[in-house]
Amino acid sequence: MHKNLKEIKETYLPLLREVSSLSQLEELRIKLLGRKGILTQLIKTIPTFPVEERPRIGREINEIKREISSLIEEKERVLKRKVSREVYDLTLPALPVWRGRKHPLTQVMDEILEIFTSMGFQVFTGPDIETDYYNFEALNFPPDHPARDQQDSFQMGNGYLLRTQTSPVQIRVMEKMKPPIRMVSPGRCYRRDNPDASHFPVFHQIEGLAVDRNITFCDLKGTLEEFAHAFFGKDVRMRFLPSYFPFTEPSAEVSISCIICKGRGCPTCRRTGWLEILGAGMVHPHVFQAVDYDPQVYSGFAFGMGVERLAMLKFGIKDIRVLYENDVRVLRQF
Ligand code: PHE
Repeated sequence: MHKNLKEIKETYLPLLREVSSLSQLEELRIKLLGRKGILTQLIKTIPTFPVEERPRIGREINEIKREISSLIEEKERVLKRKVSREVYDLTLPALPVWRGRKHPLTQVMDEILEIFTSMGFQVFTGPDIETDYYNFEALNFPPDHPARDQQDSFQMGNGYLLRTQTSPVQIRVMEKMKPPIRMVSPGRCYRRDNPDASHFPVFHQIEGLAVDRNITFCDLKGTLEEFAHAFFGKDVRMRFLPSYFPFTEPSAEVSISCIICKGRGCPTCRRTGWLEILGAGMVHPHVFQAVDYDPQVYSGFAFGMGVERLAMLKFGIKDIRVLYENDVRVLRQF
């Protein structure tokens, strides 16, 4: 008996002290304290000893059992702490968590629509696939206007084409409603342009239209100035230059003072100090006639802006194609 206990003390206690993994420790625990373990076997031999020796042997076995148990407990604590330090290095920087977000074009469109709806404009949309009538004829494009050329628009055959502008929505809304009208219409447009830094065959416009009695060019200027200040900030200035669109008369191209150089001249504004952001004008009488409005009674203004251009200015994007490649590493930055 003594020999057995001595063996345990001399071989297994040192082994326990040197254990370096939880699995080794478990192995030793089973070997010593398990159901068929050395100590369990030893306890079973107690009845084979003379009655007067049994209490002493029992005490000795219990003592060494306690010693082993507490050693195992302590080892387990130490080893577990070590493992948790290995799995969780609390000094590592956290992994980034990327939240989903709206595409920069959507963000800009939402913001523009919000500005106009807060001024009382209502949002309408029209189809991407249009007829020649809505995209051109009702908008007073002469039959030989270059925009009607196959070279410039995507023709779908049987009289349909992909709209080249959002202006046909003006016609669709006026056909359905009587003045007063104040509407904006966002949407995709398509032109047969070769992609480069500032062109893409698909792009977005936001159309605006106001029709009522006594609408003047002053209303157009005031509305657009309000928009520019809300979108770009109070210190931008606006410039209206004469221009031409078949469906407005007079027509204007509208610029803002360059938001990069504040009008001093830089590469973004091609040293002019001005950035053209939209086309606008007073609704042409022929357009009113096409929708059966009396041009003697009603007047109106219309405008159309390129969303990509505004998004590029707002976010400092130099190439329109970035907005269509949809590389999340890029989109994430806006
Ligand atoms: N539709 C014109 C374009 O595509 C923009 C515009 C809209 C101009 C409304 C005047 C009035 O360029």
